[in-house]
Amino acid sequence: MRGANPSRGRLLAVSVVLSAGLLATTGPAAEAAPRFSPGAPGAGDPYFPDMGNGGYDVGHYDIRLTYRPATQAIDATTTILATATQDLSRFDLDFQGPLTISRLTVNGLNATYTRSGAQELVITPPYGLRKGSPFVVSVSYAGVPQKIDDPALGLSGWVTTKDGAVALNQPIGAATYYPVNDTPDDKATYTQTITVPAGLTVLANGEPGPTTTRDHQTTFRWSMNRPMASELSMLAIGNYDVTHGTAAGGLPNITAIGKSIDTKPGQGNVFNQTTAQVIQWESSVYGPYPFDSTGGIIADVGVHYALETQSRPVYDQRTSDVDGDLLAHELGHQWFGDSLTPVRWSDIWLNEGFATYSEWLYQEKFNGIPVQQTFADTYAGEEDWSGKVADPGRDHIFDDLVYNRGAMTLQALRLKIGDRAFFRVLTQWPSTHRYGNVSTQEFIRFVEQQTGRDLGSFFRTWLYQPGKPTL
Ligand code: TRP
Ligand code: ZN
Repeated sequence: MRGANPSRGRLLAVSVVLSAGLLATTGPAAEAAPRFSPGAPGAGDPYFPDMGNGGYDVGHYDIRLTYRPATQAIDATTTILATATQDLSRFDLDFQGPLTISRLTVNGLNATYTRSGAQELVITPPYGLRKGSPFVVSVSYAGVPQKIDDPALGLSGWVTTKDGAVALNQPIGAATYYPVNDTPDDKATYTQTITVPAGLTVLANGEPGPTTTRDHQTTFRWSMNRPMASELSMLAIGNYDVTHGTAAGGLPNITAIGKSIDTKPGQGNVFNQTTAQVIQWESSVYGPYPFDSTGGIIADVGVHYALETQSRPVYDQRTSDVDGDLLAHELGHQWFGDSLTPVRWSDIWLNEGFATYSEWLYQEKFNGIPVQQTFADTYAGEEDWSGKVADPGRDHIFDDLVYNRGAMTLQALRLKIGDRAFFRVLTQWPSTHRYGNVSTQEFIRFVEQQTGRDLGSFFRTWLYQPGKPTL
């Protein structure tokens, strides 16, 4: 059908493996009978107990979605390639809101399913799935997706706009428009095949495939071929001016600005070039850029934040000036947050502290404001010292504490271990854990190993104890 879609070969390859796996699960019962049991309904994050699931590991999401702005409805099939990590009688996906499922298959056979609570899609395949066997889940569904409006965490998920929609999924938005193992520690590759009325543009993570138009409908194809956490997946549908450029080393650099946004002449090129410049500079500080393309999208989405969506951040135009500072933050996240992703949301300072520190470094490099001065000003000006950076609480993951004290922790560390060791950590930490999941404990051990020092009490003071650390 869609011969050019890069996911096709992958799907075929997996279905071959699958027939073998199928034989294994249904074969002679001579071996000890496996004890099939349900996968856990959550991944174990204390802040978001229902998010994610247990019992399997997703390798790839293939999202094929048609959007009709006139009715705001989607019609979609999401196909998930996964591997059982236990003998599985039943498993959950996260899927929330009013979307109606019309068909659900596991390995091509109709599966029984129920929906429970706010976001559990409970799936019982026709036969148990052996630990280690790959399987394919395909879910077809339709309806009008509903965004999440969380009093503490703001707007996320599928957000309709004047001319389309933008999907921003941190921390819990992805399940508003596709069935997903919505936990940061089950990264997967993605293909997104999105069909919209001709004339509209679709942007998403990663690299574009061919765009085709038929019957006044245009299909856009995007693929992310590096592991991506669901919270970093993204889609933008609407009227956009798109600029294609390159960053250092020929890296494709695709930026876009919503046509309705009041721009200065040449701003499209400035945005594209500043993105390239920041990527080049950050690569010189943090090591090789982890993805196969870069860019950014300035959208009129009304969420009042920018988000480090993988390879291509989204900047809500209402985040006032989309200046080099903010680009340094969101692009810095590509190393810290996207390539390296905390397992637990309580460790989000490993994202926000480093991204904020990226702003401080940017200010020094491009505006001549020394990092130490920013540190001193932040230290003097900070009023709230009451929280714990490395466990701020579910409703406080985006608080200033996490951003500012996170960055101050890094500058305090730099003063303690010296520039040479500090900047070695800034490259070695992301290269050692590239595309992986990390924790604060691992970071502390890593720095201790790099420096041969006991930094337990230093990190306890900065990360785990409320109160203003003395300098
Ligand atoms: N993580 C985003 C960044 O720092 C910001 C963000 C995402 C946010 N969701 C939010 C900020 C909700 C406040 C509220 O780049
Ligand atoms: Zn951030």
